[in-house]
Order: sequence, then structure tokens, then C-alpha cells
Amino acid sequence: ATRVYNFTAGWVITNPDGLFNRPTIGINGQWPLPRIEADVGDRVIVHLKNDLGNQSTSIHFHGLFMNGSNHMDGVASTTQCPVPPGAIFTYDFNVTQPGTYWYHSHVDGQYPDGFRGPLVIHDPDNPYADLYDEELVLTLSDWYHEQMPTLIKKFLSVTNPTGAEPVPQSALMNDTQNLQIPVQPGKTYFLRIINMAAFAAQYFWIEGHTFRIIEVDGVYHEPAEASMIYLTAAQRYGVLLTTKNDTGANFAIMGSMDEDLFDKVPGGLNPNVTSFLVYDTDKPMPTPKLIDSFEPFDDMELRPTDGEELLEAPDLVVQLDLMMNNLGDGVNYAFFNGITYVRPKVPSLYTALTTGALAANAAVYGVNTHAYVLGHNEVVEIVLNNQDPGKHPFHLHGHAFQAVVRGAEDSGDYDPNAVKNGSLVLPRRPMRRDTILVRPNGHIMMRFRSDNPGVWLFHCHIEWHVDSGLVMTFVESPLILQQTLPSRIPDDHFAACAALPMPTA
Ligand code: C2O
Repeated sequence: ATRVYNFTAGWVITNPDGLFNRPTIGINGQWPLPRIEADVGDRVIVHLKNDLGNQSTSIHFHGLFMNGSNHMDGVASTTQCPVPPGAIFTYDFNVTQPGTYWYHSHVDGQYPDGFRGPLVIHDPDNPYADLYDEELVLTLSDWYHEQMPTLIKKFLSVTNPTGAEPVPQSALMNDTQNLQIPVQPGKTYFLRIINMAAFAAQYFWIEGHTFRIIEVDGVYHEPAEASMIYLTAAQRYGVLLTTKNDTGANFAIMGSMDEDLFDKVPGGLNPNVTSFLVYDTDKPMPTPKLIDSFEPFDDMELRPTDGEELLEAPDLVVQLDLMMNNLGDGVNYAFFNGITYVRPKVPSLYTALTTGALAANAAVYGVNTHAYVLGHNEVVEIVLNNQDPGKHPFHLHGHAFQAVVRGAEDSGDYDPNAVKNGSLVLPRRPMRRDTILVRPNGHIMMRFRSDNPGVWLFHCHIEWHVDSGLVMTFVESPLILQQTLPSRIPDDHFAACAALPMPTA
């Protein structure tokens, strides 16, 4: 089937935490944003009209591989030009992966102003279909009262030399608070939980209940029982929740922002958001028990159901050392290997398409895009050493990677000799996902196969760190892109960037 969505993005006034009215990016005059839904195998068309008036925009479909349609990945300055006010831009792609995703603007700093919503791909061959009766979607988010352009200006300024990130005012669930979710006793629900936050990870639990994790960032995993999970910005979990057999009480569904992320916790901040699992509307809603020590399920223990084994013998190891520092101008930036990402004028994909054989040379993309050129079907290993005392959620576009090793807090850099000398044993079937937490002064090692020609970003999904440069670029199989892509790119994509060099078919 073909699913067509007509989205006009424009400003609406909202007040989801009941504390403050503010302009928010809505679609067709509505906020929260509509859910995009499709079945595996469907074609999805989104006509985006930019009625914001004062800002350019784009839509990225977070977690979708966009195989053969890299130009639909929606990343302004990487796979397209930002869509200027007044323009219409069409996204048109086939969905091949089941699971729980989301969509958001990928113009720097924009999605926390409201332009983010759920994206669900249903699976006609869902191996877990017999285990549940109904589906529910729950989004988590942080919420700021000030608009992003104002906050970014303060964040990236000489008055903030340590790079302290703005702290949100509230946490939201389904873009509100104290939501009542009716359930029936003795049923099993497939709960899709999505953290659409700009910054805050959340601990998530349901009082009086446990659940079984079966899906992680769109990848089916073997069921794992959990009573609490931790979702960084951009992570998703699909869990099976079986309700109690009686309607004797209602229960709190809890989200709690991870305050370790905040340099300073402002007095009066409520890090929690509550919804209610309502068995009986005549019974009172409980007062949740607040907790301050959290023991979430460790996602590294999960195993994918497809049995995919560890990718061995990497063809390329990309080592990224993460640091925060200033460049002598008093502003705090984020760096990989001393490079802070700066958006190129010409989208990197268009550079790949227009530079012939030179496209295989990373230098052509400009030093500030921090590009690595990958050959086709290579095993790529990313080693990320977090030499910063903060937690970071890293996201790779176009792939789900194998999360092979994650060091504990303060474990220092990854030691490549540890495997050789036997002090580290790699899992045979590592967890796969598209966004992963790296611990403070710790490390992560992940692997993926470069089987998806395209220009794909790898970045911290904390929006503040995107703005301060914690982004790099993988240019995967540029010569294949030159052969396959130019004739597929519609004119409205190029119209968005008048005056830039165009690819030739
Ligand atoms: Cu969810 Cu580069 O993004």
C-alpha cells in the first residue's frame, strides 16, 4: 500500500506541562504531532509544506535505513538542503523494517521546539504477534519553556565557557502529564516506548508490574524480563506488558529524567512524569512512590532473535576520541579527534554525487564534516573513547550497529589488546540498535557492515551536542551512489538549494 501524509508545519501555541504557553512547531495546526504508521513493504509519501515563516526545516525518519533512497534521509546539509519557508518538499520511500521509530526535524536545534512525532511500522510477520492483544504507543520527552534559537545562543556563548547545557523545565509522556491509559485485566499489551527528548534520558517503570523487552530500536530481541529500563534521547523499546487479573487498583506509569546529565539541577525541578494504568476509572489514581536510586535493565545483555553473529575481522577501525573544549574564542565546543563538526554549504551527498572519482577522497567533503569514506560491504568498527565526564547517546544513520563492548563509567579508553590477551571476551551475538549510551569517561566499541550506500551521520543525539559539533560523517560507497542515485532525486530536492552545484545524471 501507499501511505500519503500531507504535513504543513507551522507555529501553534501549546502548554503541555500546564506551566507556560509557548510557540511550538505543529503539523496541520495540531500538536502533539500525528503518528506516521505503515506496514513493512509499504511506500510512504510525506508532502512537507513549510509554513513556519521564519525557519527552514526538514524531516528525518529516525532509524529507517533508507536503502537506495539516501536522499530521503532528511538531514539538512547532509542529504538535502533545508526546506525554506514557503516551499514544499516530498519524502517518498519504501519501508523495509518493522518496529518503533520516530520522525523529527534534522535542521540543527529544531526538533525540541516540537517537530518530533512517533513512527510505527507494523509487521505482517511479527514473530511475537501471538503474544499480545493490543498495541499502545508512549512517547517520553523533556520540555523547555524557551525556544531553541534563544537557548542555543546562550549555550554557545562566552557567558557559558564550560558548556553547561540548558536544563529542561519538565518531563512529558505522550506530550502531556497525568495521562490516564485505560487497560483491561488479563490482557497483554505491546507497549512501544519512544524517547523524543532533546537532552534528558529517562528511567521508565510501571508500579506493580514487570514487562518483557522484545524490540530495541526496531530490532527484535529475545524476550528479557525487566522492571525498569533507561531510554536515552532517541532510543526506543518495545515491551510486552501483561495486566493483572483483577481491577482492584490503578497503577502509576513513571518516567524520571536522569539528573546526572544536568550540570546543575535547578531548585524546584520535577524530573518525574506520571501517567496511569487505569483498570477502573471509579478507583483513585495512586500517588507514585518517588525513588532516587535506579537500577535499569542493561541493554548489552539483549540478544537479537535473528541470531546474527559478531562481525569479525574489521576492514576499518574508526577511533573517535570525544572531548569538550574551546577554540580560544571562549565558547565551549565538542570534538571528535580535535574536529568540531561544521555544516557544509553543499550537502555532503551532493558533493559525493558531483565530484567523480574524487568522491572517494575524504578531503573533498571538507575537514569540518569529519568524513570517512567506506568501501562496499566492509566490516567497520567504531571505537568511541569518551574522554568527557558526561553521558552521551550515540546514533548512527542508515544502520543498526552491533553494540559489542561498553566500558563502565571511568573505565577509560578501549584497549584493543584486551581481546588478544584474553581479558575481554566479545559476545557471540551482540545486541543491535541505532542509538547507544556511552558512559562518562568510558568507551564503546560497535561494528556494522557497510551494505547501504549513502552519506550517513554519526552523532550524539543530545541536541546541544549536535549544535556544539559532536557529529561526523560516513560516506559509504560514493561511486555506487553516483551510478544509482542522481536519476532518483526529484526536482523539489534541488529547488530547496537554488545556487548550489547540482548533480548530473
Ligand atoms: Cu534522530 Cu541524526 O537523528
